[in-house]
Amino acid sequence: MAGYSGLMLSLDEAHVTTIAVDPAMQRRQVATRLLLDMARVARRRGATDLTLEVRVGNYGAQALYRRFGFAPEGIRPQYYPETNEDAIVMWAHDIDTEAYAARLAAIEASVTGATIVPEGRW
Ligand SMILES: CC(C)(COP(=O)(O)OP(=O)(O)OC[C@H]1O[C@@H](n2cnc3c(N)ncnc32)[C@H](O)[C@@H]1OP(=O)(O)O)[C@@H](O)C(=O)NCCC(=O)NCCS
Repeated sequence: MAGYSGLMLSLDEAHVTTIAVDPAMQRRQVATRLLLDMARVARRRGATDLTLEVRVGNYGAQALYRRFGFAPEGIRPQYYPETNEDAIVMWAHDIDTEAYAARLAAIEASVTGATIVPEGRW
């Protein structure tokens, strides 16, 4: 397995609960593909907003999320019990709009190679 991600849907809010890529497979757009898929599932299921938490020091992940329109909106102090590190709460709003669909299409256009999504899921 190259990577995995989790999405929790509640009414119009979709929460990216986890995303991780095998270190040997990083910087090959695996997380980008996972996020593209989660954002599309969220839209299809009627979500208008996407949110997630990220470690304050995780600049790589934050760069990835900014590309998907996430912006910081708050801090959860000492959110990670192993290290006591704070989390930044990021949101991408209005994901149900044509403008956001265009953002996803532009990201997808920049991804090389095929992304195969199994049929009949969700
Ligand atoms: C964060 C993580 C999921 C990114 O996965 P990935 O498949 O390597 O990400 P992608 O290849 O799709 O990266 C897309 C863009 O995000 C940014 N990015 C991703 N990882 C980065 C890093 N380590 N440093 C700087 N920028 C990074 C870059 O802009 C990158 O584009 P580029 O490679 O063309 O420069 C992966 O590093 C990981 O699993 N880390 C450990 C777990 C973790 O931190 N999860 C996130 C918890 S909130």
